[in-house]
Amino acid sequence: MTKSRRRTIRRTPPTRLARPASARPIASPAPRRAGDVNDAFFRYIVAGMRNGVLALTREGNLALINDEACRIFGIAPRRTDLGRPIGDVLRDHPEVVRLLNSVFELHLLPNRAELRLRPSGKVLGYTLALVGDDAGRVVGASMFFKDLTRVEQLEERERLRDRLAAVGEMAAAIAHEVKNPLAGIEVMAGLLRRRITDAPDAQSVLTDIISEAKMANAIVQEVLEFVRPIRLQVERTAVADAVQSAVQLADTKARRGDISVDVRVPRGLPLIHGDQYQLAQLFTNLLINAYEAMEGRGRITITVRTIRVDDGFEGRDAVVVELADRGPGMPPDVADRVFNPFFTTKPQGSGLGLAIVRKIVDAHDGSIDLETAPGRGTLIRVTLPVSGSEEGA
Ligand SMILES: Nc1ncnc2c1ncn2[C@@H]1O[C@H](COP(=O)(O)OP(=O)(O)OP(=O)(O)O)[C@@H](O)[C@H]1O
Ligand SMILES: [Mg+2]
Repeated sequence: MTKSRRRTIRRTPPTRLARPASARPIASPAPRRAGDVNDAFFRYIVAGMRNGVLALTREGNLALINDEACRIFGIAPRRTDLGRPIGDVLRDHPEVVRLLNSVFELHLLPNRAELRLRPSGKVLGYTLALVGDDAGRVVGASMFFKDLTRVEQLEERERLRDRLAAVGEMAAAIAHEVKNPLAGIEVMAGLLRRRITDAPDAQSVLTDIISEAKMANAIVQEVLEFVRPIRLQVERTAVADAVQSAVQLADTKARRGDISVDVRVPRGLPLIHGDQYQLAQLFTNLLINAYEAMEGRGRITITVRTIRVDDGFEGRDAVVVELADRGPGMPPDVADRVFNPFFTTKPQGSGLGLAIVRKIVDAHDGSIDLETAPGRGTLIRVTLPVSGSEEGA
């Protein structure tokens, strides 16, 4: 799975290890409680927290885990997991296990650090603390964490927007300057070709000049089109219809050969507030890339479904479109750059296809990510929020 790979980043300096109470001159008193606050009340607090909470014993066994932690780690909450080694319970998250196993040896415990879960790609913001008993002995450790994936995505999108704005301004200025001389070359070469009817060799050179100038002009138009801000014609839109139009549109723009396209759409999908034309454009670009990658053979599967997206508040419904091809896939250094404008590995490519896709997805307040590896094909997932309370299509 390829997402933008990021190392563990520390946002704030790590806090110095809080010494257990025994190391202090006077043992700190146990927390005060009101008369009707019992242990069950504390359990309810932890269970109801909107952050993930997990604790382990000094021996490395799970002592406590709340529902939010289970949700973030993608595990089912099971009482029988309590007391089991943390390495068993979180076997799908070796990076977390490594971190927790090292907690008793660390001199500085990370505070507000981040780590990325593989394979889900979720980004966690976490704090680690030691648990000391009344006598001040370290009896365990706790981890307090939050799923920052959405925050990260928004920051990433913001960074990309800034980058696009800078690149866009420059590209628009150059394209604008180049447009007129190009038109001049094309017109003058045409005039010359008409004057030298008796020199077929020179005519053929001029024909080449004209066609190259036309191609350059098409690129300039594409760049200008790309840098122009998108103005959505928003209407109640069936995403599945945009996908179907894209299948037809892609056939007019690229060679499909013997590739079959399997579109799977469940009944009763909600309508979204979107621009049918732009969405069709988006899926067309994805299909063209898949056709080009598969070189005339194989099957593409497009699956449409609804999901509930965690937005850090009450959650919202979204329509997800997954387009999976069985092409050659991409190595990580390519996958990390595919959405950058002008990035291409194709001799004739402009490298704007996926940059435009991203721009359209952003304009719909959606998100896009890809899973790919050499030899394993490519899956592109577009998530488009259903705004308002639109009902079945
Ligand atoms: N389905 C895919 N399988 C393999 N590689 C892909 C796929 N989609 C995109 N890529 C890679 O991402 C690069 C960028 O794609 P993008 O659509 O932005 O530009 P392009 O296809 O090269 O040119 P353009 O779309 O402007 O004609 C491609 O050159 C290719 O290397
Ligand atoms: Mg393309």
